[in-house]
Amino acid sequence: MTTNSAGVLADTASYAAAVEEATQAAAAYYATGESTLDDDAYDRLARGIAAYEAEHPQEVLAASPTGKVAGGAAIGDVPHTVPMLSLDNVFSAEQFVTWTASVERRIGRPVAAWSVEPKLDGLAVAARYQRGRLDRLITRGDGTAGEDVSHAIGTVLGLPERLNEPATLEVRGEILMTDEQFDAANAARTAHGAAPFANPRNGAAGTLRAKDRPYRVEMTFFAYGALPLPDSGASAEALTTLPHSEVLRHVAGLGVHTAADTAVAPRTAGTVEEVQTGVEDIAGQRATLPFGIDGIVIKADLAADQRDAGTGTRAPRWAIAYKLPAVEKVTRLLGVEWNVGRTGIIAPRAVLEPVEIDGSTVGYATLHNPADITRRDLRLGDQVMVYKAGDIIPRIEAPVAHLRTGEERPIEFPQSCPQCGSEIDTSEQRWRCVRGRDCRLVASVSYAAGRDQLDIEGLGATRVVQLADAGLVADLADLFTLEREQLLGLERMGETSTDNLLAAVETARSRPLSRVFCALGVRGTGRSMSRRIARHFATMDRIVAADTEALQRVDGIGKEKAAAVVAELAELAPLIAKLVAAGVNMTEPGATPPPDPGTEADEERAGAEGVSEGAGGTGLPLDAMTVVVTGAMTGVLEKLSRNEMNELIERAGGKASSSVSKRTSLLVAGEKAGSKRTKAEGLGVRIATPDEFAELIGSFLG
Ligand code: IVH
Repeated sequence: MTTNSAGVLADTASYAAAVEEATQAAAAYYATGESTLDDDAYDRLARGIAAYEAEHPQEVLAASPTGKVAGGAAIGDVPHTVPMLSLDNVFSAEQFVTWTASVERRIGRPVAAWSVEPKLDGLAVAARYQRGRLDRLITRGDGTAGEDVSHAIGTVLGLPERLNEPATLEVRGEILMTDEQFDAANAARTAHGAAPFANPRNGAAGTLRAKDRPYRVEMTFFAYGALPLPDSGASAEALTTLPHSEVLRHVAGLGVHTAADTAVAPRTAGTVEEVQTGVEDIAGQRATLPFGIDGIVIKADLAADQRDAGTGTRAPRWAIAYKLPAVEKVTRLLGVEWNVGRTGIIAPRAVLEPVEIDGSTVGYATLHNPADITRRDLRLGDQVMVYKAGDIIPRIEAPVAHLRTGEERPIEFPQSCPQCGSEIDTSEQRWRCVRGRDCRLVASVSYAAGRDQLDIEGLGATRVVQLADAGLVADLADLFTLEREQLLGLERMGETSTDNLLAAVETARSRPLSRVFCALGVRGTGRSMSRRIARHFATMDRIVAADTEALQRVDGIGKEKAAAVVAELAELAPLIAKLVAAGVNMTEPGATPPPDPGTEADEERAGAEGVSEGAGGTGLPLDAMTVVVTGAMTGVLEKLSRNEMNELIERAGGKASSSVSKRTSLLVAGEKAGSKRTKAEGLGVRIATPDEFAELIGSFLG
C-alpha cells in the first residue's frame, strides 16, 4: 500500500494491509518521528480502518490502531499516576456544537465556562516536580505508562529545573520545536552529517529520545495542565478543585512556560459563540505563529463540570480537539528554478509535484538562498515535507531523508546570472547579479511605477519593455526626461496615450519622499519602512547622509538592516542624483527633520526615542498611537487602498500596524470587519468606524 491509501477498504486483505501499514507508521512516528505517512494520509488510513471495522466487527484484528492511544504503538515502563489521555476530535462548527450539547446533556446543566487554547503540535510529556525540583520527565507512551526521558532535563526551554517555590506536582504539556529551533536543529544535524528532521514535530520526537548527541538541540515546553502527586500535601486540593484556567496561571507563576505569552494565549469563554470566536482567532493566527499548532483544544474550565462529564478510556468527555486542516504534505522536489528579482537578487524556487494543501494546489515553494539548500541537504527527487498555512508562501521544511532511494541528485547552482549571463556576486548569503538592478531594468522600473510607489498610470511592464528596447529608459530617472516626440515615435503610442503618460509622470514628480524612496526599491525597505525613514529624515539629502547609527534611530531598523541600507544607498547615489536633477521631489510633507547629527539635542532625542518611540508630543492627532485598519472603508475613505490608509495614519503622527494586540491604541473597523474586531473587543481596544476616524484626523485627509 502507498501513502494515498484511499478511505474505502474493499476486502479482508486490504483491511489487513491497512492495519499493518498504520501500525508500522504509528510505530515509526512514536519511536523516531519518522513516519512514512504525513498526518493527513495517516488519518485517512485510520478512518478507513475504523469504517471497515464498523461494518465487519467480527474481523477486527488485535493489532488494529482503532481506539488506542498513540495507535497502540508507544512504549514505556514508567506508570502514570493518572492516565495521560488523548482527545476526541471535531472537524467543523456543527460537530463542535453537537459535542457541547452532549456534554451539557451528560452533566444536566450548561457548562459554566470553557477554556479555549491552542493544540500544540509536539509530544506530550509529564514533568514531575518534587519540592520544586524537576525530578522526572516521562513521555505519554500508551497513556498508562511512558518512557523515562529525564536525560532531557535541562535542555528544554520553559521547563525549569527549579520552580519558584518548593512545590510538588506533575505538570503536563507539550514539548515542541519552534520554527527557529527546528532550523537550528537541522543546520546542526546536517553539519554533523546526520539526516535532517522532516518537520518540527519529528525533530522534537527524535531529540527527546536521543542521548549523547555531539551537538545540542534546543526545544520548548508549553504546559497545558497540572495535577497533584502523592506528596503534594495541601496544594493537592487546589490543583484538583481550581478551574483549569487558574491551574494554568498557577503553573505559569511557578516559572513553567505556558502559551499565555503567545498570540494564541488560552482564553475563557462563557458561551458556545464566544468559544467559536476564540477558535476563529486562534485559527487565524496559525500561519504567523513561530511554532506549529494543529487545532484548538476546548475544555470545560470548572473542575466540577469536568468531574461530572467524566472520562472515557481513550479521552476525557470534558475536552475536545477542534482540528484544523493539515498544513503539511509530503511531495517530490522536481527541480529548482533560479529567478532574478528586481534588485538583482538570484533566488532559488522549488518546483514541486503539485500537491493539495489546505484547500489549494501547491506547485512551488520558497528556498531562501543557496546556503539554505546546502544547510538543509536538499536533493532533486527528494520527498520533501511542504508547509503552507493561510496566505503564507509555501515552504519546504526538510527532505524526508528516510524515504530516499539513492536516485536523488544534487541541486546545481548557477555559474552565471540566469537573466543576463553576467557574473554572480556570491559574497553574501543571497546571491546577486553583479549588474544589480540594471539586470532587471524592466522589473525595477515597473515596481517604481506601481500604485504604492510613484503610481504612474499607464506604465505597466509592457510599456517599460517598449521604452527600454527603444533605448529611451535605462533607469528610473530617465522616465522624468521623456519627451513627447520620443514617445509619439513608438508603436501603439498615439497622442492621447502619450499625453496621459506624460501627465502621469508629471504628477509622479511631486510624490512625497516616502514614495520616491520606496520606488528606489532599497532591499529590506518596503512601503511602511520607507514611510518611517522618510518621516524620520524629512529629506533625501539627510537619508543619504545618514550613517548606520542615525538609521538605527528609525523604528524597526536594527544594526544589520542599517548597514545594508547604507551600502545600497551608496550604490544608488548616482540614480538619486539623476532624479534630483530631473526635478523629482525629495522632501516629505509635514515631517520635521531631526537636528543635525552630533549635536547634544540629537543625542537627547535619540535617548528619548529609545525609551518610548513615537511619543514625541508632536501635537498630531494620532501622536504616539498604534492604529490598525480592518474591513472595507466607507465614506470619504472608501477609495483608499490599505497602503494609503497606512500613509494617512503615519502622516497624522500614528504608527500603522496590521495586527491587533494589547499595544493597539485604535482599530478602524470598516464593513465586514472580522476577527481583528473581535480581538480588539476582547482586549478592550478602542474601535472607530471609518467616518469617526476621518473626523479624528480631519485636515490630514486633504
Ligand atoms: S489536554 C486529558 N491541551 O494533544 C486532556 N492536550 O490529541 C488531554 N495537546 O495528548 C490533553 N495541546 O499531547 C491538551 N492545549 C492542549 C494541548 C494538548 C496539545 C496534545 C496532547 C494530547 C494530544 C491529543
